[in-house]
Amino acid sequence: MPAFDLVIRHARAVTASDIFDCDIAVKDGRIVQLGQSLPAGAREIDAAGRHVTPGGVDAHCHLDQPEPPPVRMADDFDTGTRSAACGGTTTVIPFALQHKGQSLRDAVADYHRRAEGKAHVDYAFHLIVSDPTPTVLAEELPALIREGYTSFKIYMTYDSLKLDDGQILDVLSVAREHGAMAMIHAENADCIEWLTRRLEAAGRTAPRYHGHARPMLVEREATHRAIALSELVDVPILIVHVSGQEAVEQIRWARAHGLNVFAETCPQYLFLSAEDLGIDDRFEGAKCVCSPPPRGKSNQRVIWQGLADGLFTVFSSDHAPYRFEGEDGKKAAGEDAAFRHIPNGIPGIETRMALLWSEGVMARRITPQKFVELTSTNPAKAYGLHPRKGSLAVGADADLVIWDEREFVLRNSQLHHNVDYTPYEGMHLTAWPGMTLARGEVVWDGREFTGRAGAGRFLHCGLPSLLPR
Ligand code: URP
Ligand code: ZN
Ligand code: ZN
Repeated sequence: MPAFDLVIRHARAVTASDIFDCDIAVKDGRIVQLGQSLPAGAREIDAAGRHVTPGGVDAHCHLDQPEPPPVRMADDFDTGTRSAACGGTTTVIPFALQHKGQSLRDAVADYHRRAEGKAHVDYAFHLIVSDPTPTVLAEELPALIREGYTSFKIYMTYDSLKLDDGQILDVLSVAREHGAMAMIHAENADCIEWLTRRLEAAGRTAPRYHGHARPMLVEREATHRAIALSELVDVPILIVHVSGQEAVEQIRWARAHGLNVFAETCPQYLFLSAEDLGIDDRFEGAKCVCSPPPRGKSNQRVIWQGLADGLFTVFSSDHAPYRFEGEDGKKAAGEDAAFRHIPNGIPGIETRMALLWSEGVMARRITPQKFVELTSTNPAKAYGLHPRKGSLAVGADADLVIWDEREFVLRNSQLHHNVDYTPYEGMHLTAWPGMTLARGEVVWDGREFTGRAGAGRFLHCGLPSLLPR
């Protein structure tokens, strides 16, 4: 009887701190030994000296989030986690969204129903708090934190979701009291509305004007305000999808003043720019409508710098999948819909890891260890899943990626999401996961998806562990 269920031989293992050569032994879905010339396993995989990293933890993705009809998210927990697995992500943390007037508990129960029996990889939930009533603040939120929903997103924009400053202070106070992590979408809603109306009055409604309605200053102002609000309450925050220089400057200022402000960025701010929203009025630019919008190209260098020097804590996809064709996605309000009516968001759950390995590690902009920290270890720590997730160590779940370093041209037809385009069509990449294992089971073998709906389990999160407690 072999001692292990699986042994991965000749791995070049990468953690957030080290690179070392070893065999990796797995039993009952967990890593049980790292060493040289380990005894045989029931199954053996030869990594042949290739890099092996912890599976990705995508801590910002939207799956099957309820939308006002006819808009519909293209990916549910089945297609979304299938796509994640094929791109090397083995844990996802999407959002249970509270509608105004809805109890948080109802939102969580509804979201569990959406996930049940469908996920191919493990998943946890962030909450989206859009209606912080006295009951939500005093009862529901504290109880849900205790039950393992230890992070929540709050919005400073979008009419149906945004909180005012007083409400944000109330929610941050709950985060402080109970040790939860608050994620903040920082864009100034009133400025956006004012600019949008002026653009509409001037007939400037093509997708590219989405970027004009959300210039960097509206993100800078809201980032500054979010930092001030967190300082007032004396609680850490994590600012999500940071897009460029002016927001980065605010975060550097906060850090220099000793504030615990964490930050996330996403592939779209490294690989897309304002031009992708269109250089003319064609609707094609709708494919890249997301918020904050992709910025001028010089910002890409600023974001790379922030990834390399520790400004950014996590690198997430912000996968928000809408189809381009058809009546439930980008064209839901018509082929020539004004930018205000174009669903915000782009797909990226499958491409996140390979884009950063190719253009970050292979292009020598970041080290392999930094890659692991940003895509796996830090998100697991930020949201209370570490060390079970986000580490390649004895006792951790055997969530692993074996990397193939090879050149190819990315095509949407290779991807496994339910979206009819990728914003990265035609990009030349130099790496892709050659194999993904989720709790020791192969879910992507480099050619085929081999997972099983329902194999992914719900994870109750502990408290964040980015800071010493
Ligand atoms: O445009 C975006 N980012 N859509 C997803 C929702 C959000 O605010 O993250
Ligand atoms: Zn957001
Ligand atoms: Zn998002």
